[in-house]
Amino acid sequence: MIEETRVLLRHAEDPKMATISGYESYGGYETLKKALKEIDPEWIVGELEESGLRGRGGAGFSMGKKVSFLPHTDDAKYLCCNADESEPGAFKDRELMQRNPHQLIEGMIISSFAAGIGHAFIFIRGEYDDQADVLDRAVEEAYGAGYLGKNILGSGFDLELVVHRGAGAYICGEETALLDALEGKRGNPRLKPPFPAVQGLYGGPTLINNVETLSNVSHIVANGADWFKGFGTEQSPGTKVVSVSGCVKRPGNYEVELGVTLRDLIFGLAGGPLDGREIKAFYPGGSSSPVLTPAELDLPYSFEAMAEAGSMLGSGSIIVADDSVSIPRMAKRTSKFYRHESCGKCTPCREGTSWTDKMLERVVNGEATPMDLDIIASVQNNIMGNCLCVLGDAMAMPVSSMVKKFRDEFEEAIASEASAAWSASVMESAGAQSGRYVPDSQQPGPGGESPEVIRRKRLAGREIPSAMNGGGY
Ligand SMILES: Cc1cc2nc3c(=O)[nH]c(=O)nc-3n(C[C@H](O)[C@H](O)[C@H](O)COP(=O)(O)O)c2cc1C
Ligand code: SF4
Repeated sequence: MIEETRVLLRHAEDPKMATISGYESYGGYETLKKALKEIDPEWIVGELEESGLRGRGGAGFSMGKKVSFLPHTDDAKYLCCNADESEPGAFKDRELMQRNPHQLIEGMIISSFAAGIGHAFIFIRGEYDDQADVLDRAVEEAYGAGYLGKNILGSGFDLELVVHRGAGAYICGEETALLDALEGKRGNPRLKPPFPAVQGLYGGPTLINNVETLSNVSHIVANGADWFKGFGTEQSPGTKVVSVSGCVKRPGNYEVELGVTLRDLIFGLAGGPLDGREIKAFYPGGSSSPVLTPAELDLPYSFEAMAEAGSMLGSGSIIVADDSVSIPRMAKRTSKFYRHESCGKCTPCREGTSWTDKMLERVVNGEATPMDLDIIASVQNNIMGNCLCVLGDAMAMPVSSMVKKFRDEFEEAIASEASAAWSASVMESAGAQSGRYVPDSQQPGPGGESPEVIRRKRLAGREIPSAMNGGGY
């Protein structure tokens, strides 16, 4: 069976790792000491670029390149660590922060030193209360040890670090919404450009990176870019902490070299589906990634292979659905989440997530027709690439992949739910207990009309999709 390759989660089981003395007993902060004394900041930036470390928060952009974009001026510069982690299926940053907060803090100090940054923030989602407490304690310890504050270890380098708790909105993980939220405003995405590296927090040049990305920094500086490139694939070097959840025997976080197969991850490490069950589909990169099927299980888990397969690695969260899961209901659950989390700033996302969710509601309630599936597909096409940030696409991509790959199941759901609703209506109108919950919206008209008649009456009353009537839906 495949083994994990632990770099970031090494010694993670040791509770001492959450304390500064425990972290130091495993060599923690030695790289920072060396960097401040002996290493040229430019060398660190070059090594990060050379390592090929790609952002672990979703977009997979080169971390070293992002650092190199910061201007070499005396302007106040900022580092924001993105610890919002609100995407369904993602829970690896939580473990990294809880078990090894100093690894992140050391990475942030070294990155700030390399980029000439004087103020750093960790923006952590409000629901991660315990992890925020762990970080608060660790930051206090780091100040106490002289690793943060003025004139760190006598080097003349100053850095202030603040842990900021968010208020629980998924959109605040989008980097520019995060900046607005940190500034005390409502967390809405900003138009780009300007990119944060040029004009970010308080208008100053800002580096934004994910928890896992920054946790890699001290290891790269300590061991060099070539060592890092020894793990993973050419285009996806390093290890990755992958969150596997859903219908598997052993859900959890597994750190592996990028490029191991999906089969190794889902079957080898996570134990595969429950006995008697088969995998039907899975999101390879969180709930915003287009779903893949068992035919793709032997693909390597890398940024490039997931993109070639028409999906994405994202933040590295695999959610598995077995043959007991209804794909239309999974699509509905997905659209409900994104509709709720849409900030509403741009029309394709605000209206598109809402229409999609309402149309999928009709599908699972047996009130749709196969034509609605084409409308759903067309709405997704109109969302993709037309939004201010990628939250709209984050719903449109998985939903359109499900409708495309499992169209038969959507058609069956429409047919079977419709006839089930009709039988239930007939039985209930005859005073019988059907045993199946029938919402008010599906109660039969006088005389127990067929689902088609019920549907037509409802459409005539209020539920004409705006794609057809041109109005607000
Ligand atoms: C709606 C939305 C939510 C996001 N949530 C997160 C998040 O929780 N954590 C994260 O690191 N990146 C998140 N991102 C990606 C960030 O915008 C940004 O790309 C990332 O923080 C950059 O760090 P990285 O280069 O280290 O990955 C989100 C993006 C979008 C559009
Ligand atoms: S895509 Fe959605 S979340 Fe992003 S700015 Fe537009 S409305 Fe807001």
